[in-house]
Amino acid sequence: MTSRPVLGIDIGGSGIKGAPVDLAVGDWATERLRIPTPDKSTPKNVAKVVKKIVDHFADVIGDDGPIGITVPAVVMHGVTRSAANIDKSWIDFPIEQLFADTIGRPVAVVNDADAAGVCEAQFGAAKNQAGLVLMTTLGTGIGTALIHNGNLIPNIELGHIEVDGKDAETQASSGVKDRLGLSMKEWIPRIQRYYETVEKLIWPDLIIVGGGISRESERFLPKLTLNTRIVPAAYHNRAGIIGAAWLARDRRLHPDPLDATSTPHDTGNKENT
Ligand code: BGC
Repeated sequence: MTSRPVLGIDIGGSGIKGAPVDLAVGDWATERLRIPTPDKSTPKNVAKVVKKIVDHFADVIGDDGPIGITVPAVVMHGVTRSAANIDKSWIDFPIEQLFADTIGRPVAVVNDADAAGVCEAQFGAAKNQAGLVLMTTLGTGIGTALIHNGNLIPNIELGHIEVDGKDAETQASSGVKDRLGLSMKEWIPRIQRYYETVEKLIWPDLIIVGGGISRESERFLPKLTLNTRIVPAAYHNRAGIIGAAWLARDRRLHPDPLDATSTPHDTGNKENT
């Protein structure tokens, strides 16, 4: 049986990238398209770029194929609930509804690290791994995903645990390394401290390191001293698009019973409204 590729779109701080994904193989079916993220990265401005990417690949994905979209935020049943490294207007925003209205078809919006974790669990470094896997994506922030026996537990925000009294991602992400101009030698104690703290909280069977810097993993992974086996991601920055496509197809097969677009949704988060 052959099936059409599913479009995955990855929304990041500097670029919005999309590619049709061949889910039988676990890779992009064609080259990706990248469009810079608008300077004012509000949901509405980002939705316009997402539409351009969908239109660009319309011939490959067909008229009614599912579309998966990652965002660097907590996503509960179609509503973005946080905005650590994006415009604050994403907090409590009904993003799936906006994207669906703009594009004219249903979409599945998921957290970026969750998508990367699903890609690694289905096709990459955690394929066939039993037990608990902690996926980490090191970039501007620290994204995390938990996969248990192949099943995603969504919206686990372990990049924001407190380490030595500070929000972990503000001390140990690769974005911080770049911003402060830290050498690998200077950055390694920070990432060591992060992983040793997190492994004491959740005791995973395997930790995966993703994000752009995972391409240089041989320069820092051998220097870490941890109880848990820690390995580089197989898909590096390609994982978000692939995981988003996988989750979009999965959502079509198993609709979210708490989907905010099908029932009136009260986020209950009055502070942010
Ligand atoms: C956000 C996460 C996101 C991660 C990576 C963090 O600041 O809270 O939701 O997965 O950055 O983009």
